[in-house]
Amino acid sequence: MDEREIRLRTSRRRLFIKTAIGTGIGLSLVSAFYVGASLRPRKEVTPEKEPLKPGDILVYAQGGGEPKPIRLEELKPGDPFVLAYPMDPKTKVVKSGEAKNTILVARYSPEELSPEVAQHAVEGVVAYSAVCTHLGCIISQWVADKKAGLCPCHGGTFDLAQGARVIAGPPPRPVPQLPLKVENEVLVAAGEFLGEVGVKAEAGGQCRV
Ligand code: FES
Repeated sequence: MDEREIRLRTSRRRLFIKTAIGTGIGLSLVSAFYVGASLRPRKEVTPEKEPLKPGDILVYAQGGGEPKPIRLEELKPGDPFVLAYPMDPKTKVVKSGEAKNTILVARYSPEELSPEVAQHAVEGVVAYSAVCTHLGCIISQWVADKKAGLCPCHGGTFDLAQGARVIAGPPPRPVPQLPLKVENEVLVAAGEFLGEVGVKAEAGGQCRV
């Protein structure tokens, strides 16, 4: 073997080693990427977190046990509102995993409702998002003498017969109404919320209570 052939073989061996190392590093990077990707938490939308859809059945939020659809006859004018969640009519999954799906439902005498509200109500029953537009707390209390919904965080008060207009406290806008219909004697969403639910994106902030 002459000197030229020895140099040629040596340089081929070096090239082979470099290629093997390069390939190894490349494969390590690729597998690291996939491991990293698989470990990264995915934002999953489980059935309980699906957004409300037209046709969803309204069920009582409180009570536990089997989901109980809200029957029209169970609501009386002047009674405190009830909190509800939408339930998928096919899968029967209650969409309680997403706070923005919380709904408040109240009944008035039809003549108490403003015409705009009445067109999305059914026999005096109105529904709205229960998420306060101030900092996102749940409107959970009833002001009997005003027949209004109260957010306990900072006293935001909403007149539910008049489009949830704000009659006290800091909320910057009403909560959006949810159109209703009745099917098989129970309340059903006849559409989506008629406006943005909760705190507007540009407003930021969170309920701190
Ligand atoms: S979060 Fe409802 S009044 Fe502030």
